[in-house]
Amino acid sequence: MSHTIRIALAALVLSAGAVLAQPQPGSPSGQNPTTRAVNEEQLLREFERLDGRVTIPDSKAATLEQPQGREWRTFREGWLPWIAGIAILGMLLALVIFYFTKGRVRLDHSEESGTKILRFNTFERFTHWLTASSFIVLGLTGLNYIFGKRILMPLIGPDAFSALSQWGKYAHNYLAWPFMLGILFMMVVWLRDNIPNRVDAAWLKAGGGFLGDAHPSAGRFNAGQKIVFWIVMLGGIAMSVTGIILMFPISAVDVNGIQLNQAIHAIIGVLFVAAILAHIYIGSLGMEGAYDAMGSGEVDLAWARRHHDLWVEEQQAKTASGPQLGGSRPIPAE
Ligand code: HEM
Repeated sequence: MSHTIRIALAALVLSAGAVLAQPQPGSPSGQNPTTRAVNEEQLLREFERLDGRVTIPDSKAATLEQPQGREWRTFREGWLPWIAGIAILGMLLALVIFYFTKGRVRLDHSEESGTKILRFNTFERFTHWLTASSFIVLGLTGLNYIFGKRILMPLIGPDAFSALSQWGKYAHNYLAWPFMLGILFMMVVWLRDNIPNRVDAAWLKAGGGFLGDAHPSAGRFNAGQKIVFWIVMLGGIAMSVTGIILMFPISAVDVNGIQLNQAIHAIIGVLFVAAILAHIYIGSLGMEGAYDAMGSGEVDLAWARRHHDLWVEEQQAKTASGPQLGGSRPIPAE
């Protein structure tokens, strides 16, 4: 091939390349600089978020895209329902299995049966039910955020679901305050009796009397109840702090902080509900005689002796005439 022909061919190839590289109108992968400049995926990979400029006072409006929002949405819509479902259904299943294998913990009868001893005074019971009733509504309305549109909406229809969810939202926001007050009162009335000690280690070692026939000694609260108390205190404080941050968005933390905060609030919340299901079980169906402590406030002395022997001795030592009685039948003279 002659030199001149080679040059002509090279020029032809180059010019063909130039023609192909011309902007292709409407093609996102073309050379149109405007299209390339707004390639969203590439920009999101390069920057933390896409900000523009606004002249209105609310500077947050300048953020056009916040990629972490997608991660949060994946968590909120993908992971969270699974975590919540496994925790809550897993606990319910465990309790059902426990009930059908172990059955109710029965009341032991002794010569002390029928005599009552005051376990919780009026203020303690008020504190318990203030916390418990607000917690139950908070738990149910909280679960509605996660499962409502998946489970409830198909059952009751969008109109009823939206009205219910709106009231649920008000209830969640307003009942958070009596719940927090309840946590504070519980701390005042029960903290002293829930400090862990050596008796708790022995109680745990004996499986709390649930695993064998032994009835390990316990003070006013046994180790299992102390665990419940500390779950309620620490869980309550964590839910309160994260909840208040969610109630006043963007005042303490930015949008990323809010997302993280929501994730913490939701995860602790569902674990808290699962743990409290076990407490509700043992305080009602699971143990004969236990409910009276929070109902009338008085329990059977035989029950108290079996489950809280050290506390009964302590109470008896306080009064010259025997145990502190709140009930109707006097204790027989020794
Ligand atoms: C219908 C629901 C509930 C029932 C039937 C129930 C029942 C009881 C009973 C009978 C006791 C006294 C146990 C004893 O004699 O020592 C108790 C104690 C307690 N409850 Fe509840 N409760 C319920 C809900 C709640 C909720 C929602 C919370 C907190 C979020 C809670 C927190 C506590 C705490 C911290 C104690 C003291 C520690 C303990 O005994 O475990 N309870 N409950």
